[in-house]
Amino acid sequence: MMFSVVTGGAGFIGSHLVDALVARGDRVTVIDNLSAGTRENLARHLENGAVTVVTADLLGDGWEDHLEGAEMVFHLAADPDVRQSAVTPGQQVQQNIVATERVLDAVRHHGVRNIAFTSTSTVYGEASVIPTPEEYTPLEPISVYGATKLACEALISAYSHSYGIRSTSFRFANIIGPRSGHGVIPDFVRKLRENPRELEILGDGSQTKSYLEVSQCVQAMLFAVDHARDPVNVYNIGSEDWIDVTAIADIVVRALGLSRVKYRYTGGERGWVGDVPRMLLSIDRLKALGWKPGIGSRESVVAAARAMASGG
Ligand SMILES: NC(=O)c1ccc[n+]([C@@H]2O[C@H](COP(=O)([O-])OP(=O)(O)OC[C@H]3O[C@@H](n4cnc5c(N)ncnc54)[C@H](O)[C@@H]3O)[C@@H](O)[C@H]2O)c1
Repeated sequence: MMFSVVTGGAGFIGSHLVDALVARGDRVTVIDNLSAGTRENLARHLENGAVTVVTADLLGDGWEDHLEGAEMVFHLAADPDVRQSAVTPGQQVQQNIVATERVLDAVRHHGVRNIAFTSTSTVYGEASVIPTPEEYTPLEPISVYGATKLACEALISAYSHSYGIRSTSFRFANIIGPRSGHGVIPDFVRKLRENPRELEILGDGSQTKSYLEVSQCVQAMLFAVDHARDPVNVYNIGSEDWIDVTAIADIVVRALGLSRVKYRYTGGERGWVGDVPRMLLSIDRLKALGWKPGIGSRESVVAAARAMASGG
């Protein structure tokens, strides 16, 4: 049995990660300020005592000692809103960079030997090589969110080398599925529930990206953490194909049992400031390690849309 700490473990991806850790027999402590996450996401583990939740803000004090004895820290807590990062950049610097530095300091002081971090495809900016491999340069984020995650990766690398901590940073494509509160599918479901006749689509609908169902993402994370051997490891996680936004709208409309919905495009090649219109990650590094996704972008979107339509 391993003792793992998950920051942001009450959120979307974090709660699925906790499910997988509990299923393999880990003892788990979640540190989350419940700003976006909920105790409900972890309800069944709380009933049977498999998981301890520490309700705390990483920018505050009092949570650090909960890392004592941990073999692994999964650091997921962040402000993940790319669109909002253009409006309140200072907030994302605090929530992402400063909070990560505080986690790294706690990891160092409590002698934790392993950290995993959830980074993002947005560190690549508008890459000229697609599918984009991890070694692609220049890393030129076009959103504040992407910039903060890249800064976190740099801090993690420095702490790994300075203090002998093994780190694995994951650059995610769009991760989707039950319990997700943000992104294109929850946005469409919310809008269609308000008005089933018309759907506002941000941009011109041609933005084309890679999507992966959350349980696949969590499997990939755990596989990589178990098998990666370098002091500093970086892996892309996504599916091997992509899908455009209008096709996603069609799938969500069908999942909700609707038809003849009028699409109203806000126009332009990007949905918002900092939106990268084309994103597909190379996952060759992860495949070489021995893991590949069981499903592609379309199947991931269909599964996520169905889950959300039925209340997930
Ligand atoms: N969902 C995606 O497609 C995607 C893509 C790339 C990267 N990521 C990254 O994966 C991670 C998880 O994302 P998610 O989609 O599950 O988002 P989420 O908002 O559901 O989860 C984030 C969790 O962190 C908690 N949190 C935020 N700030 C905190 C703080 N200061 N102190 C303590 N807890 C705090 C929130 O309450 C929430 O439970 C994030 O780091 C995000 O940047 C997600």
